[in-house]
Amino acid sequence: MKSTLVFFALVALAAAGCSGPKIGTMTGYDNADGQDDMHPGSVNDYEHTTPAFWANVNAVSIYNRDWNQWKYHNIIINYKGKNVTVQSWDSCANQDCPDHTPCCTNNAQKFAKPGFLVDVEKRVLKSAFGINNYDDVMAKISYYLCDKFDPKPIAKKYHLTN
Ligand SMILES: *[C@@H]1O[C@H](CO)[C@@H](O)[C@H](O)[C@H]1NC(C)=O
Repeated sequence: MKSTLVFFALVALAAAGCSGPKIGTMTGYDNADGQDDMHPGSVNDYEHTTPAFWANVNAVSIYNRDWNQWKYHNIIINYKGKNVTVQSWDSCANQDCPDHTPCCTNNAQKFAKPGFLVDVEKRVLKSAFGINNYDDVMAKISYYLCDKFDPKPIAKKYHLTN
């Protein structure tokens, strides 16, 4: 009985295609505010993000060190015991930190090394996590790296340009 349960648990994990959990950092940013995002209205490869995009896609930014390997992946964030699936669409570059610190490196390594940064746009923070003050977020999270997705049909649906 017990081994059957373990077997099904392993099958479920393999089906989800996720690895983890590991310890990372969740922070928040405002994609519409040029003071907070040096490229307001843009994500890594697309421009003209729309309210509909942010309302329907749990897009997040990851440290640009991890971008080539983990761009356009589903990522499960476990925050306060609850799983939320987000998608990597944007990247955090130290030269763009509003406070002129290496904020992407510092935040990624806050709770673990090498660590992993999930910088969540304020509208996603609100809809997915119920968090209002994006500027105050510096949270230890567990995360799972999952499958890759194709951004093109999603970008097309929400009229992003590139
Ligand atoms: C969160 O997702 C992971 C990966 O799919 C899973 O192993 C874990 O059981 C989930 N945790 C909760 C609380 O749903």
